[in-house]
Amino acid sequence: MRFSDAFLQQLRDKNDIESVLAPYVNLRRAGRNLVGLCPFHGEKTPSFTVYPEDQTYHCYGCGEHGNVITFVRKIQNLSYYDAVKYLADRAGLRMPDDTFDDGMDRLRKRCLAANREAARFYYSCLLNEEGKQGLDYLLSRGLKPETIRHFGLGFAPNRWDSLKRFLNAKGYRDDELEQFNLLRKSPKGHYYDAFRNRVMFPIINLSGDVIAFGGRVMDDSKPKYLNSSDTIVYKKRRGIFALNFAKNGPEKKLILCEGYMDVISMHQYGFTNTVAGLGTALTDEQANLLSRYADEIYICYDSDEAGRKAADRAVGIFSKVNVKIKVLHIAGGKDPDEVLKNHGPERMRMILNDALNDTEFKLSEAKNAQDLSTNNGRLNYANAAAEILASLPNPVERELYTNVVAGEVGLPPDSIAAQITKIRRARQKKEERSRFDTVARNTLGVVKNEFYPVGTPRVVIAAEEQLLASLMRNPDFYRAVKSEVAAEDFVSPVNRRIFAAIADAADKTDRIDPYFFEELFSPEEMSHVSGLTERFGTLGNTLQECRDYINTMKKHTIESGQTEIGKLDNAAFLQALQNIKNNKL
Ligand code: UTP
Ligand code: MN
Repeated sequence: MRFSDAFLQQLRDKNDIESVLAPYVNLRRAGRNLVGLCPFHGEKTPSFTVYPEDQTYHCYGCGEHGNVITFVRKIQNLSYYDAVKYLADRAGLRMPDDTFDDGMDRLRKRCLAANREAARFYYSCLLNEEGKQGLDYLLSRGLKPETIRHFGLGFAPNRWDSLKRFLNAKGYRDDELEQFNLLRKSPKGHYYDAFRNRVMFPIINLSGDVIAFGGRVMDDSKPKYLNSSDTIVYKKRRGIFALNFAKNGPEKKLILCEGYMDVISMHQYGFTNTVAGLGTALTDEQANLLSRYADEIYICYDSDEAGRKAADRAVGIFSKVNVKIKVLHIAGGKDPDEVLKNHGPERMRMILNDALNDTEFKLSEAKNAQDLSTNNGRLNYANAAAEILASLPNPVERELYTNVVAGEVGLPPDSIAAQITKIRRARQKKEERSRFDTVARNTLGVVKNEFYPVGTPRVVIAAEEQLLASLMRNPDFYRAVKSEVAAEDFVSPVNRRIFAAIADAADKTDRIDPYFFEELFSPEEMSHVSGLTERFGTLGNTLQECRDYINTMKKHTIESGQTEIGKLDNAAFLQALQNIKNNKL
């Protein structure tokens, strides 16, 4: 969907940045601006700044940057379109008429419609003769008919073209259905159903739309589950199964399992705040999304080695977002589904009550890795525990667990406490050192920014960004300079891609808006794109200025001599700083 400038202006006018951010950030006034703790990264001193004058925000800690749309997109994990829709609803604005739709939005709608039809089709198959074995399978797994209906489970018949025929008859073309991941194409060019002879699990987003499917075999053949790959409406990395049901619970607690069947059983037994990831290891995006709906998350992974490792990783990922963690130890079955089936919901409730917090979980992992009946094992455990406890910011908590560990290894608490202090001092020093480095680089005119190689001079960054912003504003400039500059002239890989995207779009439009790139870039990268158009997009640049930027960039490529500052030792680093100061780089 291409929104008109007028509509976007109205949208921003009616959604004041302070009020949009209020539920997520505690802001206090600081002169003309507002500051608070950044909602995108953990911090104790506020570096998140809101500029009411130009309705933007910037975090000096993690570099997040943008306007209300960027913010909503990121914090609620929405697509650009859905973020705009959310803000339009919030302000009581009507979304522009469909007549202004561009291809992208039409395609998105068509994909959702096809998925909905497919879900209906699979569900109806489950209830007719052909699907009897599917229904029998689900019933044999202990699911009640109302659970099957609630989750809209279905059956994909054991034929090559049953869904294909059904959807063709409704007017869907084979090539688009392939694009929606509902059909596949053979090397010879024949289209056939992507899911065959499987029980089907529709994946539903927070708006209630079917966006993808998982399909399970009914025996031991492989692969056990087949999942839709990404489409225009589905990004596996962001997907959470059953969040549409679980998000409305009375308490802000969610239970996170590994599998579809775990979630469905849990719901059937009344644990309706259960969700699962979708066939991928937990991602940052998923953790972020979950933390919007829960203050506390119970990690409820399988009891096998893989499940324990996954829980380890998940604890690490959740430590980056603001949410309390509990880790369950599943006993009496391989996964929650088995526990429920073997022992009933009471046992599950007990397991939930016995859940460990993240410190307890890490300590128990460290303990299990050692043999505490040997001196060596006890020593290793004490050291590992000290590393874990050194990360706890709260001294009372540190002392509490220090005593627990001391008891376990048979040492006086003081000796463990001394070790913890030593580790904390060393870490503090390291942190100070890296803070010093950052400051040194900033003062000397080189910035550290994830999108640029360490040591890229400020003037080069400014040249790249201003050039891109100018080209987006004036595709005519692009046409004028395209023979003078190439993607390789950009230092930053993401800027190279932005340049390539501009090259692609320049032929089609006379004004390139950042949301053209929505599908091509991650939310972090989009924050960069919209950041640079906001900072530089309104400059009345001339073609000559564009040429100056290009010269600056080329000069840098030639002169930089390819030394990577990040790899230098101390003395060489100081020398490099000196060179930069003297403009030698
Ligand atoms: P499990 O093998 O633990 O599945 O995989 P499960 O949910 O317990 O399945 P049942 O009880 O045997 O029916 C956990 C999750 O990993 C993904 C699926 O999302 C599954 O629910 N998975 C597993 C796949 O995507 N593909 C596979 O082949 C297997
Ligand atoms: Mn299972």
